[in-house]
Amino acid sequence: SAAPPSGPPTVTMASEKTACGSVRGELSDLFRTALTLSFPSVAADPVVAACNNAKNGDYQCNNAMALFGKLKGTPNAPKAPRDVATAIVGALPTNDLVAETSLAGPGFINVRLSRDFVSKRLSGMLVNGLAGWAPTGYAGKKVIIDFSSPNVAKEMHVGHLRSTIIGDTLCRIFEYCGSDVLRLNHVGDWGTQFGMLIEHMADARQARVAAGGEDKDMDEDVSDLQELYRAAKKRFDEEEEFKARAREAVTRLQGGDAGSLAAWERICAASRREFEAIYSRLGVKLQERGESFYNPMLKGVVEELKERGVATMDQGALCVFLDGHSVPLIVQKGDGGFLYATTDLAAIKHRVNEEKADWIIYVTDVGQSQHFDQVFATAKKAGWLVDEGAKVSHVGFGLVLGEDGKRFRTRSGDLVRLAELLDEAKNRCAATIRERRAEAGEEVDEAEVEDAACAMGYGAVKYADLKNHRTTNYKFSFDEMLNLKGNTAVYLLYAHARIAGIVRKAEKDVYALAADTPISLDHPKELELAIHLCKFPEALEDAIEELGPNRVTDYLYDLSEKFNSFYVDCKVLGSEQEASRLLLCEATAVVMRKCFELLGIKPLYRI
Ligand code: ARG
Repeated sequence: SAAPPSGPPTVTMASEKTACGSVRGELSDLFRTALTLSFPSVAADPVVAACNNAKNGDYQCNNAMALFGKLKGTPNAPKAPRDVATAIVGALPTNDLVAETSLAGPGFINVRLSRDFVSKRLSGMLVNGLAGWAPTGYAGKKVIIDFSSPNVAKEMHVGHLRSTIIGDTLCRIFEYCGSDVLRLNHVGDWGTQFGMLIEHMADARQARVAAGGEDKDMDEDVSDLQELYRAAKKRFDEEEEFKARAREAVTRLQGGDAGSLAAWERICAASRREFEAIYSRLGVKLQERGESFYNPMLKGVVEELKERGVATMDQGALCVFLDGHSVPLIVQKGDGGFLYATTDLAAIKHRVNEEKADWIIYVTDVGQSQHFDQVFATAKKAGWLVDEGAKVSHVGFGLVLGEDGKRFRTRSGDLVRLAELLDEAKNRCAATIRERRAEAGEEVDEAEVEDAACAMGYGAVKYADLKNHRTTNYKFSFDEMLNLKGNTAVYLLYAHARIAGIVRKAEKDVYALAADTPISLDHPKELELAIHLCKFPEALEDAIEELGPNRVTDYLYDLSEKFNSFYVDCKVLGSEQEASRLLLCEATAVVMRKCFELLGIKPLYRI
């Protein structure tokens, strides 16, 4: 059946005892000590990385060459980089990780991990759960991730989908690390577009009354927001009289007029329902805190910028001139109106001072890089961001392209509707699953097919997005993302289901086994798989360092490849090593599931 197996203990936070950090991190600590002991006169951060070629070793330390350069000309300077390397190796503290070291090239130090160490680390993970493998250093940190952030009454388009998917994965990674994550939806819910929307709605109601209809607010007024926006925009562009009324409506709204606010609230609520439908399908949780939230703070922000001499009047607008930028950041227009940037400045202040953020991360398309550079620089000038304080990062991403290599649009040239896109992915998956069931002569349980199709379809859309380096533009192709082979979610979901099937078939309590069966790593393929499993925390460290979810997808894909190669050479069921190999299977499944979870993909347990 599709029911998940029992799984390892689900401890959400690592206890002191089980948190172990990454192997690379532990090796770095050992080399840090060795560097200080061998060459106390020069400070050097350990440079430790996984070896590209397993023939040389598992990890390498690359400090010797640079250190040799630094030591040149000092008393008793070493004669060659290799001498530096030898001295570093000689100073390595006693430990249980390193089985053997060797020197290569001018002075690379190669490290071979102790099999016993790797085996124990895996057993420990199965027994204590994966929580202990979360990257350390982020627990308890307040991380604010500003993502998704569509605009009210406008289309939520594929750009917002990218932001939603990338932002959600970053949140999940930090949540796994034990950070206090605040997921903020900086919805575009305030601005001049509301004037025309409110006026158009008022006109429509009048027309309805004139035609004998009801004189009250009705759901149909806001049932098609895109249409409302299009119609209002058309009149705004074409009718002078309407344009003037729309402008007055904006002023009334900003002045706090109750009727205008009520109309605005109705539009926002309708928009929110549409966004929520997408979020719930994607399994994304977000807290709405739109631009309007910061409205009361804008005046004060601008005053402060003026007082501190950060903003100055130029050509009738209040501007911030910044080094390295040819155009200033405008914070207030000549007519007194505030802008997108003003709101972002207020948001930074609020997030730093009230939310006590340690790190604020913004996920938008790369087109907004300049905006964020300028906003961050302005906040620094104003003293709202300080070096020792909160860190800010803009996570920019590229465009989604259609199969023709142009910006992704429907045939009619419209932006693609997200709901339709998700429907198509799901429907295609449902068809494939039904086909498979039919071929196998199995009965079709419609509810199960629906669940599996959602997991696969939405998972495929997410994975196809996340696997690219976020700054590259990528082509949206159903055929590619739903391919059963290659680097796709569908392939990986099946790979996981197959492994889960192997473990199921053994009919053993693997967690009882894990407690008393050592994992033997005598076969080179067993060892290779085991070492890759132990590198999971490193993939996450890299993902955080680069704010790049593709580090997780790369890792996951490699893992399934390593598993396949192990499974080809190493018989599991019915072999002498069955117990130990089952543990390798289960460890692989556990780590795969964690990757899926971080990517926001629901795992499948049967094919
Ligand atoms: N609503 C904006 C857009 O659709 C994105 C907002 C991003 N977040 C922010 N704090 N500026 O482009």
